[in-house]
Formats: sequence, C-alpha cells, structure tokens
Amino acid sequence: MTKAIVLTGITTTGTPHLGNYVGAIRPAIEASKDAQALPFYFLADYHALIKCQEPERVRQSSLEIAATWLALGLDTSNAVFYRQSDVPEIMELAWMLACVASKGLMNRAHAYKAAVADNEQSGENDPDKGITMGLFGYPILMAADILMFNAHKVPVGKDQIQHIEMARDIAARFNHIYGEHFVLPEALVSEHGATLSGLDGRKMSKSYNNTIPLFEPEKKLRKLINKIKTNSLLPGEPKDPEDCTLFSIYRAFAAPHEVAEIRKRYADGIGWGDMKQTLFEHINDHIAPARERYEALMQAPEHIEEQLQLGALKARAVSAPFIRKLRNAVGISRISL
Ligand code: TRP
Repeated sequence: MTKAIVLTGITTTGTPHLGNYVGAIRPAIEASKDAQALPFYFLADYHALIKCQEPERVRQSSLEIAATWLALGLDTSNAVFYRQSDVPEIMELAWMLACVASKGLMNRAHAYKAAVADNEQSGENDPDKGITMGLFGYPILMAADILMFNAHKVPVGKDQIQHIEMARDIAARFNHIYGEHFVLPEALVSEHGATLSGLDGRKMSKSYNNTIPLFEPEKKLRKLINKIKTNSLLPGEPKDPEDCTLFSIYRAFAAPHEVAEIRKRYADGIGWGDMKQTLFEHINDHIAPARERYEALMQAPEHIEEQLQLGALKARAVSAPFIRKLRNAVGISRISL
C-alpha cells in the first residue's frame, strides 16, 4: 500500500497561539497518527524572510514552533518533521519552477494583489512600492515545498487555497514540458478547523495583536483571559453563547457534554467573572501537561535540533535523488561520467 503524502508548512515568524493550535496544529498532529498517511511537516523558515527581517525573531520562532509540535506529541517516527532550509533541494527546485511559471499567474496572487491595492489606496505612484521579489514569487517557493515531496494532500487555511491551485498549475506546466514528474496536489481545508476569536472578539491572529500564546505561563494565561472583551450584561441576566468569545474558546477545548452544560449556565445568567474563571481552569488543565514538556524542551534545544536533523535526513533521502532526476529532465547533467 502506498501512503498518501500529507504536507504542510508553518511560517516561522511568531509564537504559536490558541488559534494556531485549534485551527492547524491539533488537526495536523491528529493526522500524524493515521497509519495510512505519511505526513511531511516543516518549519518554513525561508518563507519567514518574506514577512520578517528580524533574524532573532525568525530564530526564536523556529525554536518555539518546533518545541510546540514536539511537546504536543507529534509522532516523529511516522511524520517527517524538518526545517525547510535544511533541504537545499527545495530552493533548487524553486528555480526550475520559476522558469516555467508565468509571471501573469503570479500577478493574480491574492497576497501580491492586496499589497498593490494598499499602495493604490494610499495614493502611491508606484503600485509595487515596498513589494519584494520574495513576496511576488512566494507561490513558487510554496509550490517547490509541495512538489519536492509529491504531496497528495496539503492541509491549509482558506487563504492558502489559491497557492495550492498555483502549485497544480505550475506542476502541470512542468509535466507538460518535461514529462510526468509531479503529482498534482490538492488542498485539504478542514471543516472543523475552527477559527477562534481573540481578545478583542476579532479572529485570533498575530496581525490583530489579539492572541493568547498557547504555552503562556499559568499566571499570564489567567491575566489574558481576564482581558477578553465581553458585553455588559450583569450576572443573573441570561446570555447568548453564540457570538461570545469566551464561549467560542471554551467550545474548542471541550467535549459535547461540557459544551451543553456551559450553554445551560449561559441561559441561567452566569456572570462574566465566573465564566472567565471556568474558561481559565479548563484551558489550563487541558494545556498543563504539554506546557511542562514544552518548558523542558525549551531548556534542551539540542534535543529539538536532533529531531530536526533526523527529519532532514529523512526528507533528503527523498529530495536528493528526486532533484537529480529533475536536473536530468531539464538538461542539466554532467557531459560524461
Ligand atoms: N504559506 C503558508 C502559510 O502562510 C505556509 C507554507 C509554506 C505552506 N509552504 C507551505 C503551507 C507548503 C502548505 C504547504 O500558512
């Protein structure tokens, strides 16, 4: 039986938060336990350079993200867990793909178009002001990440679907010119990959600065939860759980019977102070064991590095022979043996 290759990358520019956990990390770790699948999960550190030019932040984020995945129990005996920059074949493939990808296709990328629209909005003469070639060519690097391992399924958020379609386009073009080398990947958008609300009620996101870091120490976690915005209904007044940030977060961490119980308490008029306390205890209990492992790993970075090196070995066992084949296909090879 050949296993389905499931591949996804995490850009190393920030600290993992509850929204990342519920929307991406938790489902990916669950998927890593499926014996029918061969997961490739990687730290997209070259992608980080597109958004972030602070070397310390990229380094720290790589460490935190790797520690997070390991602390949460990613099964590295099944999953291939590696750092993009440890697999130089990916960059090499990115160039080969850039030479078949049309510029017009890149012009249509949402991220690029949004940056141009921002410039136009602000009355800028140059629509490309501040836009790097890294941002412009980002879908090509992402296609290389995916095609390097001939991934079948790519779990991503909705905002990334277009990039998977572009990877398919580029793969098909390469196959058409040079022969069938690449599998056409499919986006896997999880329906229950819930989006969490953040401190201010908008979607929890680094760009809104409203996140709750996943492994915040207990005291800080309590403080942050106390900061979550609520309406001004008083204790004793019935409350609507839909549209309530506290409830949306609680639900993402609770079993159905617990959710039903909380719904009842909303109807009975639970006070916001009580609900915040309940939410804090619930999340804290849920996270405490992994947080302990996380803290231990952060104290032993050599342990994390060792895992990443093992992952890179496994990844390169695939990428190195494949890139040789691809080089050959495009006409780059030794003149004689
Ligand atoms: N672009 C993705 C994001 O910002 C991260 C990423 C990089 C990725 N390479 C990938 C995701 C390859 C899936 C497959 O979320």
